Amino acid sequence: MHWKNDLSRLLNIEYPIIQAPMLGTATPQMVAAAAKANCLGALPLGDLPADKCVEIIRATKQLTNAVFAVNIFVNDIPEITDELRAQYKTVKNFITQLANQHHIEVQLPEIEEIKVNSYHERIDAMIAEDCKIVSFTFGNLDEQSIHRLKSSGIKLIGTCTSVNEAVILEKSGIDLICVQGIEAGGHRGTFVNADIPEIGGMSLLSKVYDSVSVPLIYAGGIYNGRTLKAAQALGAQGFQIGSLLLGSAESALMEFEKQRLRNLNEKDIVLTKSFSGRYARGIKNTFVNAVEANQQILPYPYQNKLTAELRRIARINHNADFVNIWTGQSINAYSGKSTTEILENLIKEAEK
Ligand SMILES: Cc1cc2nc3c(=O)[nH]c(=O)nc-3n(C[C@H](O)[C@H](O)[C@H](O)COP(=O)(O)O)c2cc1C
Repeated sequence: MHWKNDLSRLLNIEYPIIQAPMLGTATPQMVAAAAKANCLGALPLGDLPADKCVEIIRATKQLTNAVFAVNIFVNDIPEITDELRAQYKTVKNFITQLANQHHIEVQLPEIEEIKVNSYHERIDAMIAEDCKIVSFTFGNLDEQSIHRLKSSGIKLIGTCTSVNEAVILEKSGIDLICVQGIEAGGHRGTFVNADIPEIGGMSLLSKVYDSVSVPLIYAGGIYNGRTLKAAQALGAQGFQIGSLLLGSAESALMEFEKQRLRNLNEKDIVLTKSFSGRYARGIKNTFVNAVEANQQILPYPYQNKLTAELRRIARINHNADFVNIWTGQSINAYSGKSTTEILENLIKEAEK
């Protein structure tokens, strides 16, 4: 296994293995532990306000001197129209009733109370905090942001789930592309067509490789040496690892969530918009079944903001039926070892 390639040189890392940014799960400790394995840690900032981003970036820098990536969501924010307001009310009533039926006391926000922020404020924070690598998902950065980030010497990684999206990212001057296979845990990075792309990860990676010339990272289903080498054979130079790290010592998941993961079978894992309004892969539960059956789901980020408090309370009560536990299709042992050890084992397996 040759690890040195254009991508490892560009990012200045020994192993071109990237600990996936996982909002709510990947912690500063996980980023530092990935760096300890000489891989690239990625700090998820999602849609957090700028001051929170600064706090987390600084906390991570306290734990490691290594370079790490920061990751943000760059989605469009739909305008609040009368139609959306009416739809919000209907969905809010439905979810409140559902919670009541299951004896969960929760006060869901009115649409006016929802705070959404644009990614531009996070860009200011990342530049001010001297970040070196920025990855993003749910969209493409606008031209001005790309220019600002690149002229600050920042390397950019965009996420695609189709050939079309990869071509758009390359044309915009993005340095590296993360090809997210359908197998991947968590949200899909899709931004051109909101429908689920029907193409599987193997076909997608190979097609993207034939269509663009920037180095590719593959994300989706890598859980051992063989799957990593398969991605390499199909043209990936970097390997993004998410679900394999969910049970790790540095994961922010609670013990009941880790236990739920360790009792999975493949039928439990679905792609659903029910929690956030965007497709995400995770564990099917009472909430998913009820919302899918009702068929009324708000666009992202409104569904996400509407359901946040319910999920927060369910989590406190260790109620796996109302929390979103994201995971990909490659069910694994969800080891409780440190991220460093899990990644070192993966490297060893790939070198066999
Ligand atoms: C719990 C969880 C949270 C995630 N959050 C993010 C995120 O904040 N930003 C992002 O770009 N990708 C996110 N992803 C997707 C991962 O970056 C990656 O595409 C995926 O984990 C790879 O597939 P795998 O889970 O099979 O390894 C998340 C994935 C999981 C499992």
